Amino acid sequence: MVYVSRKEHFNAAHKLYNPDWSEEKNKEIFGPCSNANWHGHNFELIVTVKGIPDADTGFVIDLKKLSTIIRTTVIDKLDHKNLNVDVEFMKGKMASTEVLAMEIWKILEPEITKVSKGVLHSIKLYETPRNFVEYLGE
Ligand code: NI
Repeated sequence: MVYVSRKEHFNAAHKLYNPDWSEEKNKEIFGPCSNANWHGHNFELIVTVKGIPDADTGFVIDLKKLSTIIRTTVIDKLDHKNLNVDVEFMKGKMASTEVLAMEIWKILEPEITKVSKGVLHSIKLYETPRNFVEYLGE
């Protein structure tokens, strides 16, 4: 089994805010991340596909195709957007990096299957160089 990864980048704004809670509780749990007027991050997204290299191409997945899929189905919808307001697939959800990684998985998994015998292995999403999440689909 070989693991092939593609890294992409986007900027987005968000806030962490639970509408079921009081202002005080939001402040207590989320701190400055609950700031009403948003804040931004430079996100790094790493998508890893696993599989056996194809006998004819030597590829698990054509990285040009993977890059195009990630850009058209995910990055174009997130880049320079507000995760809480502008992004259809985040509507009604907490705009945390964890939830965003799970939603990106849902979008990419079927698209990758269309162009490769490999399967999606992981979504790594860096919110900052030091804070990142990894989702393996379960
Ligand atoms: Ni944040």
